[in-house]
Amino acid sequence: MSIARRSLPALAVAGCTALQPARAQPAASLRDLAHARGLTFGSAIRHDLLRTDAGYAALMAREAEVLVPEWAAKWSVLQPREGEFDFSVLQEILAFAARNRQRVRGHTLLWHESLPAWLPPALAEGPARAGAVMETHIRTVLEATRPSIRDWDVLNEVVANPPGSDNPSPIPGDLRTSPWLRALGPDYIDRAFRIARQVDPTLRLTLNDYGVEADNPAAAEKRARLLRLVRGMIQRRVPLDAIGIQAHLQMREPFRAEPLVAWLQELRGMGLALAVTELDVREPDVLAPSVALRDAAVADRTAQFLEAAIAGGVRTILTWGLSDRDSWLRLEPSVARPDGAQTRGLPFDTDLRPKPMREAMARVFRG
Ligand code: G3I
Repeated sequence: MSIARRSLPALAVAGCTALQPARAQPAASLRDLAHARGLTFGSAIRHDLLRTDAGYAALMAREAEVLVPEWAAKWSVLQPREGEFDFSVLQEILAFAARNRQRVRGHTLLWHESLPAWLPPALAEGPARAGAVMETHIRTVLEATRPSIRDWDVLNEVVANPPGSDNPSPIPGDLRTSPWLRALGPDYIDRAFRIARQVDPTLRLTLNDYGVEADNPAAAEKRARLLRLVRGMIQRRVPLDAIGIQAHLQMREPFRAEPLVAWLQELRGMGLALAVTELDVREPDVLAPSVALRDAAVADRTAQFLEAAIAGGVRTILTWGLSDRDSWLRLEPSVARPDGAQTRGLPFDTDLRPKPMREAMARVFRG
């Protein structure tokens, strides 16, 4: 089943014409600077803002070569009721990308969040039902999107958070407890990738996770856990093509290039492609006294991290949005700043103007 372009609502088309951005932007876009260096830059995108904000649409069209739906490709949107698939919201992003010569990566086939109400009870009915539900979703979504989406996060956040991390796993073990693990056991991971490979052997199949970037014991342990999982998958000949590191950087955590570079190079050594999939920067608990100093600190951390990621073999860099205005870091209560300050962790400010973080990224892309 391919997605018919004629289904695109007129409203979405009207909101998506590539108008000039509201403000003058630097000469070269991040998209072009990255491309010139053999890198790919992109961003998460929100369908609702595409419909309503022409400046947002123009900035996305200009700056990103790859788009990743922030929400529109998750299970709760694509299969809100069992057997009822709805690709209309995702189609709005696919149509926008096609108009702007952009690729779209899929996020995410399986996750423990953004599950529709019917799914957890269905998974709890037992392994036969859970396996059938998982296979139907993966097959249907991949078959429907394969002409437009060639790279998917097959699994998101399957590694358990170690002690000392933000939300440590309540039980020991490398794998996060989730409805999937409870229903199907650890084998769900291999099964999901094997089903995806069967649908289309030319898709890039990615395992995506977070909390592996910092220079502290928790991140070191999470890197070790992810490496153990990946080694096992490679030994079992599971069709895994790439590792996505989300890179929701936290400036309250120390960063040093060496441990991250070594870990990334070990993954590269297994023949895996590497991507930074959700880059943004959470500022320290105590903020610098001025916006200029805050922005400079965020820019420095961004540059340090990106230089290390590229040295480790990363060739795709995606931010989790472009503008502070729309960042989950401001909108999501669980991560919004307790002091009420507005996080400044993305390349553009709330008026879609470039910030020092964007200039730092441009410098790194220029090499
Ligand atoms: O827009 C709909 C609205 O129409 C609907 O009525 C309402 C019903 O709940 O939902 C609204 O959508 C919200 C969506 O964001 C809008 O983009 C969802 O409620 C809300 O849950 C969703 O939150 C997203 C979250 O993942 C859960 O899917 C965040 O935007 C998104 O930034 C966040 O992204 C995750 C990555 O997928 C994985 N890595 C961590 C990252 C941050 O949590």
